Amino acid sequence: MRVIKSIKSIRTFLKTIKIKNKRIGLVPTMGALHKGHLSLIQKSRRENDIIILSIFVNPKQFGPKEDFTQYPRQEKKDELLAKKEKVDIIFYPSVEELYPKDYLTYVFVDELGEKLCGQSRPNHFQGVTTIVAKLLNIITPDTLYLGQKDAQQVIIINKMIQNLNIPVKVKTCPIIREPDGLAMSSRNRYLSSRQRKEAPILFQSLKSAKKRIQKGEHRSAALLQMIQSNIERNSSGRIDYLECVDNQSLNPLKKITSSGMIALAVKFGSTRLIDNIEFKIK
Ligand code: PAF
Repeated sequence: MRVIKSIKSIRTFLKTIKIKNKRIGLVPTMGALHKGHLSLIQKSRRENDIIILSIFVNPKQFGPKEDFTQYPRQEKKDELLAKKEKVDIIFYPSVEELYPKDYLTYVFVDELGEKLCGQSRPNHFQGVTTIVAKLLNIITPDTLYLGQKDAQQVIIINKMIQNLNIPVKVKTCPIIREPDGLAMSSRNRYLSSRQRKEAPILFQSLKSAKKRIQKGEHRSAALLQMIQSNIERNSSGRIDYLECVDNQSLNPLKKITSSGMIALAVKFGSTRLIDNIEFKIK
């Protein structure tokens, strides 16, 4: 496994790979790897000749009051995990190289980034699409691997790729959960032991809503009400948003008539957790 830190070096390396027509898979991350990331790496390993894992805590996707400086950084541990999963290259670009002082260019997907998480994280998705576009330009992978936990991010990145005609396939991998249902996240480590015990209520509530949908409850308001009171009664979590939306436009669905998802963000103290569940009825 090679660790590459500069754009010039990764481009030089990739030139030799591309001549041999090898398939390249990119797994973009901010590090602090957990089983969710490992599932993306494993899928990429099965489907490609060369796997590139990028690790970059992207300052542009954090708001001024968010946890950029506190975001977990564990280079050595991540390197060991990546090696075990047979990653070929870890790409660790620097903030200075990706965003030099005179940096002015952003990629912005209209409308979608203002919904759900965008309501309380105004420039977050602009930061995400900017860094992902840059990584795609630098690495030019055949396939990009993303996790369904960040469902809105997946929808926005897909839209960007489609609208900007970027020649890359996107594969979305299922949410990986702890045995009690809590979605794996680098931020779970910030939960106190009480909050950690309470947090599985998010997925339990989403799962019961999906069951209700399958049993014929198609009024979003009733489903959301059930989830809200479940979370409020059983935890200290404060709901940031809770919505039932179309899973392309992210527009709210009043009544469920085909497919969609219920997505939520809930704050436990200062730790904000997100989760979602997709549904489809005939
Ligand atoms: O999902 C993440 O970890 C980040 O948003 C991503 C896609 C690596 C961009 O910084």
